[in-house]
Amino acid sequence: MSGQTRFSILGPGHIAEKVATAAASLRGRGLTLRAVASRDQGRAESFARRFGFERAFGSYEALAADPETDLVYVATPNTLHARHVQLCLQAGKHVICEKPFADNEHDAAAVFALARSLGLFCCEAMWMRFLPAHRRVRELVASGAIGEPRLLQASFAVPVSGKERLIRPELGGGALLDLGIYPVAFALMQFGLDFEETDGVSLPAPTGVDDQTSFSMRWADGRLASLSCSMTAADGAWGRVAGTTGRIELPQLTRCERIALVRHSDGSTETMDFPFDCNGYEYELASAASAVAAGLVEPPEMPHAATLAALRVCDALRARCAAAAALLSK
Ligand SMILES: NC(=O)c1ccc[n+]([C@@H]2O[C@H](COP(=O)([O-])OP(=O)(O)OC[C@H]3O[C@@H](n4cnc5c(N)ncnc54)[C@H](OP(=O)(O)O)[C@@H]3O)[C@@H](O)[C@H]2O)c1
Repeated sequence: MSGQTRFSILGPGHIAEKVATAAASLRGRGLTLRAVASRDQGRAESFARRFGFERAFGSYEALAADPETDLVYVATPNTLHARHVQLCLQAGKHVICEKPFADNEHDAAAVFALARSLGLFCCEAMWMRFLPAHRRVRELVASGAIGEPRLLQASFAVPVSGKERLIRPELGGGALLDLGIYPVAFALMQFGLDFEETDGVSLPAPTGVDDQTSFSMRWADGRLASLSCSMTAADGAWGRVAGTTGRIELPQLTRCERIALVRHSDGSTETMDFPFDCNGYEYELASAASAVAAGLVEPPEMPHAATLAALRVCDALRARCAAAAALLSK
C-alpha cells in the first residue's frame, strides 16, 4: 500500500451516500476512492460517477475479487452484513461494516474470529463512537467532572415509513437493531462493557419486529442505564449521563457536535462545540484507514468486544420480548 488506503463501497444505498461524501473529503488524506459494487451495474456506475470512484462493479463478488481494493465498506441490510463481510474477508479485504454488525452476537463472533485468523482489519461502523464530542464525554466522565457516574439515559425515536428493511424481520428490521443499538453503544461506551444485566419491554409492529422498546442495563456497582427506541415516536436522538455532582447532556446523540456540562452545585452550564470536518462519517473512515495502515485488526474506538456486548444486549432483549409475546398470545 502507498500510504493511501484504497476504499470501496458494497451496497450503494441511502447511508452509503453520506459515507461516500465523507470518503471524498478524505481523498489524498489517507483514502483513495477505488470502486462501488451494486447488484445493478447501472446503479454502481451512477454512484461511482457521482462521488468520483474509479470503478463500478455489477456484483458484490466482483468487488471482493478486485485486487486494487484494500478496504470495503459494507452497507447492505442488517441480516446480510455477516455474509457480505465474510465474502470480503475471504478475498483478503479489510472491512468496515454498518451497524448492527450482524444479526446476533454468535454470528458477529464468528466473523471477527475469521478476520483475526486472517490478520485483517474488521469493525462495525458505529460512527457515533468515533466522534470527537463522544470522546470528550468519556474523558469528562473519567476525569470526575460529574462526580461518581450513576445514571445514563438515552433514546432514539423517529417515525420511519416506507423503508422495507426496517419492518421486514428477514432483513433485520425493528427499532432495537436499527435505532436502539445507538443508546446501547452509548451506554457501553460511557459505563463500560461489563454490564451485569439487561431487561426491557417491546411493542411489536404488525410484521413481528419491535416497533418500540424500552429497556434498562445495570452494572455491578449500581450504575444504571435507562434506554429506549421507537420507529413511531418523534423524540429524536438524545443522551445524558448523570453523576453525583452534575450531568452531561447530548441534545443530539448520534449527530453530536455539541455537549453541555451542567454542575449541580451552582446550576451553571458549560457548552462545548465539536463541529464536524465534513458530515461526521469521516472520523470512522479516518480511523479505519489508519488502523489498516498500522496493521491493526480493530480500531481503538470500536473494539470487537464492544460490538459483541451491544449484540448481547439486543439478543437478550429480543429473546425476552419474544417469550413475553408468546405468553400473551396464548
Ligand atoms: N450509520 C448510520 O448513520 C446509518 C444510517 C442509516 C442506516 N445505516 C445502516 O446501513 C445499512 C443500510 O441502510 P440504508 O438505509 O442505506 O439502506 P438502503 O438505502 O435500503 O440501501 C441498502 C443497500 O443494500 C443493498 N442490498 C443488497 N441486498 C439487498 C436486499 N435484499 N434488499 C435491499 N437492499 C439490498 C442495496 O444495494 P444494491 O441493490 O445497489 O446492490 C441497497 O442499496 C443498514 O445496515 C443500516 O442499519 C446506518
